[in-house]
Formats: sequence, C-alpha cells, structure tokens
Amino acid sequence: MWKTGTTIVLLTVISLFEVVVVNAEGELCLLYESCGKCLTADPICSWCIDPNYDMQKPRCGTKTRLTALNCKEIYENTPKHIEVTQNDTTHDFAKDSLDAVQIQPQKVKITMKRGQTQKFEMKFRPAKNYPLDLYYLMDLTWSMQEHKEMLFRVGNDLALTLEKLTENYLIGFGSFVDKPSMPFAPMGKEMNNPCALAGDHSHVCEKTYGFRHHQLLTSNVKEFKEKVNASTVSANYDNLEGGLDALMQTIVCQERIGWRNQSRKIVILATDGLIHFAGDGLLAGVVKKNDKQCYLDENGDYLASLDMDYPSLEEIYRELLKRKINVYFAIRGSEYTMTKMKHYYEQLHKLTEEISELGVIEQDSSNILQMVSDGYKEFVKKIQFFDNAPPNIQIKYETRCGKEFFSLREQSKCENAEMGEEYEFTISLTALDYPADGARQQTFRIEETSTSSEYMEVEVNIEDDCPCLVGSDAQENSATCNLHGKLVCGMCLCDGGFSGRSCECDLLNYSSSKELDQRCRLPTTDGNGTVSLGPICSDRGECSCGQCYCNFGFSGEFCDCYECPYYQGKPCGGNSERAFCDCGECKCHDGWTGEKCDCATSTAPCIAPNSDKECSGHGACDCGQCRCASNFYGTFCEMTSTAINALCLYYEPCVNCLLDRNEFKNCSDLDERCMAKDGTKFYYEFVDDISDSKIQCVTRFTTSEGVQCDKKFTYQINEQSESFLRILSAECKKGLTVASVFAITIITTLLLGILLILLIKLVNYTRDRREFARFEEEKNKTNYSMQSPIYNSPIRSYQMPPELSSSSFEVNRLSAMSTKSN
Ligand SMILES: *[C@@H]1O[C@H](CO)[C@@H](O)[C@H](O)[C@H]1NC(C)=O
Ligand SMILES: *[C@@H]1O[C@H](CO)[C@@H](O)[C@H](O)[C@H]1NC(C)=O
Ligand SMILES: *[C@@H]1O[C@H](CO)[C@@H](O)[C@H](O)[C@H]1NC(C)=O
Ligand SMILES: *[C@@H]1O[C@H](CO)[C@@H](O)[C@H](O)[C@H]1NC(C)=O
Ligand SMILES: *[C@@H]1O[C@H](CO)[C@@H](O)[C@H](O)[C@H]1NC(C)=O
Ligand SMILES: *[C@@H]1O[C@H](CO)[C@@H](O)[C@H](O)[C@H]1NC(C)=O
Repeated sequence: MWKTGTTIVLLTVISLFEVVVVNAEGELCLLYESCGKCLTADPICSWCIDPNYDMQKPRCGTKTRLTALNCKEIYENTPKHIEVTQNDTTHDFAKDSLDAVQIQPQKVKITMKRGQTQKFEMKFRPAKNYPLDLYYLMDLTWSMQEHKEMLFRVGNDLALTLEKLTENYLIGFGSFVDKPSMPFAPMGKEMNNPCALAGDHSHVCEKTYGFRHHQLLTSNVKEFKEKVNASTVSANYDNLEGGLDALMQTIVCQERIGWRNQSRKIVILATDGLIHFAGDGLLAGVVKKNDKQCYLDENGDYLASLDMDYPSLEEIYRELLKRKINVYFAIRGSEYTMTKMKHYYEQLHKLTEEISELGVIEQDSSNILQMVSDGYKEFVKKIQFFDNAPPNIQIKYETRCGKEFFSLREQSKCENAEMGEEYEFTISLTALDYPADGARQQTFRIEETSTSSEYMEVEVNIEDDCPCLVGSDAQENSATCNLHGKLVCGMCLCDGGFSGRSCECDLLNYSSSKELDQRCRLPTTDGNGTVSLGPICSDRGECSCGQCYCNFGFSGEFCDCYECPYYQGKPCGGNSERAFCDCGECKCHDGWTGEKCDCATSTAPCIAPNSDKECSGHGACDCGQCRCASNFYGTFCEMTSTAINALCLYYEPCVNCLLDRNEFKNCSDLDERCMAKDGTKFYYEFVDDISDSKIQCVTRFTTSEGVQCDKKFTYQINEQSESFLRILSAECKKGLTVASVFAITIITTLLLGILLILLIKLVNYTRDRREFARFEEEKNKTNYSMQSPIYNSPIRSYQMPPELSSSSFEVNRLSAMSTKSN
C-alpha cells in the first residue's frame, strides 16, 4: 500500500515538474515568426525548417518540442566554441630573452551567436624581476631645495633600494615649476630672481620654467645624482604648480624620457604644492587646449608652456591608462599645510585609483627611500584588468584573487597580489548584438592596468543567426506556398497580391484586407446588445487569411484562450475519454475528476463487496483508492490486527460450501452462497500455494469423518468488484475416530502386556542361565581338588631362610620329628 502511495507522490512530482518545464519553455521560445528572431531569443530555441511541417504549429521551440510536434528538419543553434590559439606558459623576466610572460593564454578565438555567453579562464602571474622604469619628477620650487639635496645625498642608497626590488631598473629625473607668466610667476625685474619673492636674497635662483627633463631613464645612478645636484630651484607666486603640464610631457615623450616597452613604469611626483588644472591657463591668457603631444627641446625644456593650457585630470588619467604609467604622489608640507595637501591629493588619488598611490614625505625628507620602496610594492600588489571590447560585447570578470575569497567575486582586480603567485580570472563574454558596422569578426584586448605591453587578444566571431536566410535554400514558387511564394527557412514569402501562411489568400477575392482582419477579431456583446470586436487574434497571434495563428501558449479561434497544460507531453494528458481542453482549462468528462482527470468520480472501487461503506468505514476513498485510517490496511481497509477480517467471514459460507461439495457432494446452494449482493458470481480455484498473498483467511470445517480441520483461503477483488477466491487444496489432516482410538488403545495395551510378559520371561531366563553357569563352575572346582572344607592335610612344608645351612636344618627337622614321635 505504501508503495502505491509513493508512486502516486512521485508521479505527482514528475508531472508538476513537467508542467513547469513546459511553461518555462513557453516563455523562452514564444512564437517568433522568423528564424532570426527565434534563434536570438534564447540559445535553447531552435527553428523548424521542415517545409512539410504543419503550417499552424509554431516553428520556434526547443529541439525536443519541435520533434514532438513532428518537425523533421530542425535548424539548431550551433553550440558556441572557444579555441585557444596561443598558450605560452607564464614565466619570470628572463635576462636573455628580455621578456616575461604574465598572462595566459595570450590569444583566444570565440565563435558564438548573438545572445550567447562564453566563459573562459585567464591566468595572471606577476613576474619576478620585472623591469622597472622610475622617473623622479620633482617640484623644484624654492621650498623643495631641502628635498632635492636629500635626494642627491641618498642617491647611492636609492640604487641599493631599487636593486632589492628588481634586478632590472632604470631611473630618470625631471623637474617643474609653473608657467612662466603672470599671474603664476613674476615678470619684469623679479623674473631673473624669483627666489627674492620668498625673501631669500642670498641666493640667486633660476627663472620660472614649466618643465625640464634632466635625466633620461638610465641604469647609471651616478649620472642621475649628478643631474639632481646640477638642477637648481626656482619659484613662483601661487601655491599651485604646473605639475600636470610636467606629467603630460613625462607621459607622452616616450622616447625622450626613455620608457621601455616592457616594464613597470612609475612616476614619483614629489611636491609640496597643489596643482593647476585645465582652464587655469586662461588667467595667463593661455587658452589652447592641451594636445597631448611632446614638446621638449634638446635641453629637455618644455616649449609649449605658454602655448597650451594645462591638461585636465581626465586627459592625464586616460594617457596614464593607455601607456600603463603609474603615478606616486609624494607630498610634503608644513604642519599648517599638510591637512589641506592630504585632503587634496587623496581626492586626486581616488579619481585615478587604478594608477595612482599617495605617500607623505617627512619634513626632513628622510624617508625618500622608504617611500620609493613602498610605492613600488603598492603598485606590484595591485593587479587589475581592463579591456577595449566593443559595445556589443559584454565582459564580466570573476576571481577569487588567489585564495583571498572563498568564492568567485565579480571584480576585475586583486589588491594583495604577490610576485610569482598565480591569479585566476573567469571571464564571461556575451555577444549582445552584431557589430554596428555589420562585420562579423571583432578583435579586442584584455590588459593588465599597470605592467608591460602584454595582453590577451580575443577574437570574436558572431555567426549569422539563420544561415537559411542567407543561403540559396530558398525555393521559388514552392508548392507549399501554393505556387504564389518563395519558401525560406520553412516559411512562405508570398508574391504580391497573396498572403497567408501558405500564400493561400488571393487578396483579389476580398474587398479589403480589413475584411480579412475582421474575421480574426473576437466579437463581444455588451449589456445593451451592442457587438464590438476585440483586437486582432487578441494580440496573441497573427491573422493570416482570416485565420488566427496563435503564439505559443495560446489557443482558441481568436487566441483568446491559454493553451492547456501538458501532462505526459500531451495537452490535458491526451486521454480524450477523460479530459478535454476548454479555452485553456483542462475539463473532465463525467465520471472523472482530479487536475489531470485521471481519477474516477465513482467510489465503487472503494466499497468492499460485504459493505455499503466506503473503505469499510475505516478510511476515505481518494481517486478510486482507499486511504485507510491508522491501524487499518488492505484494499478496503478491511484488515486490522485486533479483529477478524470481515471479508474472510463474508467469503466463508462460499468456501465452506465448496469444501462440503468436495467432501460430501451435498452443498446444493453453491450458486447462492458464492454470489455477491449484486448477483456477480465469485470466481474460485483450488491451488497448492497461497503464501504469495498477504491476506490469509482461515475457515474451520468438519469432514465426513466428523473431524474438524482448518482450511486456508485468500481473496482478491478487481476493479469491476469481481471476487476471486483461491483455496488451499492441501489434504485436510484426518483426525482419529473414537472407535479407532478405542481399538488402538486395546491393541496397544495388548501388545504392551505381551511385551511385559516377554520381558519378565526374558529376565527370568537370563537369571536361570546365570545361576546354572555358576553351579557348573562350582561343580568343576570341586572335581579338581577333591577336598572337603573340613579336611586338613597333616603334611606341612617350610621354606628355609637362606642364611641357615642345610645340615642344621636337617638336624633340627630330625630332632623335631623325634620329639614329635615321642
Ligand atoms: C594552456 O596551457 C596550460 C599549461 O600551461 C594548460 O594547463 C592548459 O590546458 C592549456 N590550455 C589550452 C586550451 O590548451
Ligand atoms: C654638486 O654641485 C656643486 C655645485 O653646483 C659642486 O660644487 C659639487 O662638486 C657637486 N657635487 C658632486 C658630487 O657632483
Ligand atoms: C616598442 O613598441 C613599439 C610599438 O608598439 C615598437 O614600434 C617598438 O619597436 C618597440 N620597441 C622595442 C624595443 O621593442
Ligand atoms: C479566389 O478567387 C479565385 C478566382 O479569382 C478562385 O479560383 C478561388 O477559389 C477563390 N478563393 C477563395 C478562397 O475564395
Ligand atoms: C447601455 O446604453 C445606455 C444608454 O444608451 C448607456 O448609458 C450605457 O452606458 C450602455 N451600457 C453599456 C455597457 O454600453
Ligand atoms: C452436508 O452433510 C454434512 C454431513 O451430513 C453436514 O454436516 C453438512 O452441514 C451438509 N452440508 C450442507 C450444505 O447441507
């Protein structure tokens, strides 16, 4: 019983699942009228290109559904695929080949359709000994004099510090002040000694200048030191300097500065002032927009200082990203200015987070080395990816940053990277649409933000959605299209003057297309009897030649109904005797009930032949089966452990009669007894084994010898309430009659008596034999000795003790004899 219960539950679960699947499918591949739309709707949607396919059925659906709808030719969404075309293993910077490989793979080729997503793995391993290009860009206003001197002093140690970071470094030096023009810098007499402005008349300092590149990137630290020593301070008016002008030149003058192609590039911008931005040039009458070109003369002086405005922060940021140059803002200030400086540069850093860091120089500049080292390490720790994917391609990065996160996180950066460790990124690439220019192939790069010229090249090929649209499959004047159209992708493109799915509508036969449309509108009558027409095919389908073709999920003449749910792959279960679809609802024919109309309404199968009550009154009838109250079981809940099975009693007269008939041939009312109330006869048979049945009834019956015996039988009742009885035919063990018992007792007693007598006889006989044997034995003994018990022989014999001599013995003996004879 419980097994049946489980099966019912399972079936319910399965069919629920099925319904869900069908509904989900309905939403995903709703009827798309063209192959193109269908295939882009979802990767699971396929298109039926079978020309013999029923024109009324949807052509867009999952492969399984189309197959179920009898489509013989299905154009499937081809599976997307990815090919790795370059896959060099990552390695540290090698001195001989002068390169490092940090990204793997280097090239991938993806083929996919619109709307599809391809995932792939990318590995990044920060290489050890990666080349470093460090450019020290110093604000050389008067207040930075001290700092410059310190940089000169620590020059040699700087070399040592850098060696510890990487074996392969270059170092360069440049300085800036501001645009040499009013109101930024003094003009006239003071122009030649701007330091006088600061009240220092003892030194004569240099004229204000925009930017000067002193030292090309070099591995020669001595040279670097000399250039630092040789540079001189200058001054300007305001506390805003021309740092961005200098930075722009540092970035864009790649050859003059000496930036290498494969290196980590860092600019240390040391300053104790704030910065002029784009637009500030206007104050000095400089309005031309910064054109991001290099303007250095042979001495390294910036020529366009008075021609071009300062660049904007945004422009600087773009250039830094593009050329992968990082900026370390090393700021310095008095205790009065420091708070403001910090706040100012922190904001700047936030705006350019990926490529900038911020550090504070001590008042006495004693931490230059620490700062350089820290700055470098900060940049090494950060890895971040960006790409130049076209707008029709969406890229998503996910990573665990080594083992930093327990699960993948959607981000393209890691902040605690270590050299020599591998970092995996999962990239999901989605082709949202075709490229705007109509091309099908696109190539773009995925790059790390701060290092080298390395990148991963991604080639994406977006396939045509429906090759049949492009190919030469189209059949002109196809019979399927009633010779009035062209068959394309399994659909008809009708010639002029014809319409309809099979071009069956000759428009000349109708006064207007409106007339045809009217036939597709649901007429409704309101309370006043006015008839109005609904929208064409209830907006859920297509009107073709006066007939509605409903979108998937809808049905009815005007698509005004939902499609009925599917069970076991068929609408309403497909059993038309039980269920029918009525405007989106499964309805049951008389006699059936339940969601799937698979339950008979009749409770007859729950009523035992012996009872009028459903389930013998111990349960409820559910879908033709009894659900028994606890402690009751059996098809009709007729069994319980505490009482005799009422159905056994019910069948007992019949079974007894059958047994009587076998025994006495006298049961004349067999038909009456073996018949249900409604007149159906019981079926019966005598069998050798009924142990397979759980139901075991027992009846007691008396044989013709008057002996009582127990007979077993079992019953079964089928759906038509017919009873089947199986009676165990094993011979009833015949008991003993009184007479035979009496006879047996007498015989047994007799036999026992004889046995007893024999036994006694035997015992006596044995004893006699034994007595006789003993007598014989005794007799023999007497014969041999001839001795009377009272006779004693007068002769005595003695044994001499060995120590005595034989002679003395003889003497004694003789003397004794003589004594005796006396
Ligand atoms: C690329 O190389 C790595 C080993 O360096 C290997 O594990 C991986 O499977 C390769 N990928 C492909 C697509 O061949
Ligand atoms: C530094 O420059 C000064 C003059 O500007 C010079 O006297 C001195 O020798 C230079 N020192 C070195 C180590 O070059
Ligand atoms: C650096 O890259 C540029 C362009 O990418 C190239 O023209 C140049 O030859 C490269 N230089 C070296 C040394 O590889
Ligand atoms: C349309 O008109 C043509 C003749 O013009 C006729 O042969 C055809 O049967 C008509 N079709 C319908 C659907 O009325
Ligand atoms: C029925 O007709 C009356 C009067 O003509 C009108 O006021 C009412 O709105 C109409 N009702 C409907 C449902 O159209
Ligand atoms: C058949 O005969 C036996 C012995 O006479 C009797 O016990 C039994 O009840 C009879 N059965 C019927 C059905 O009359």
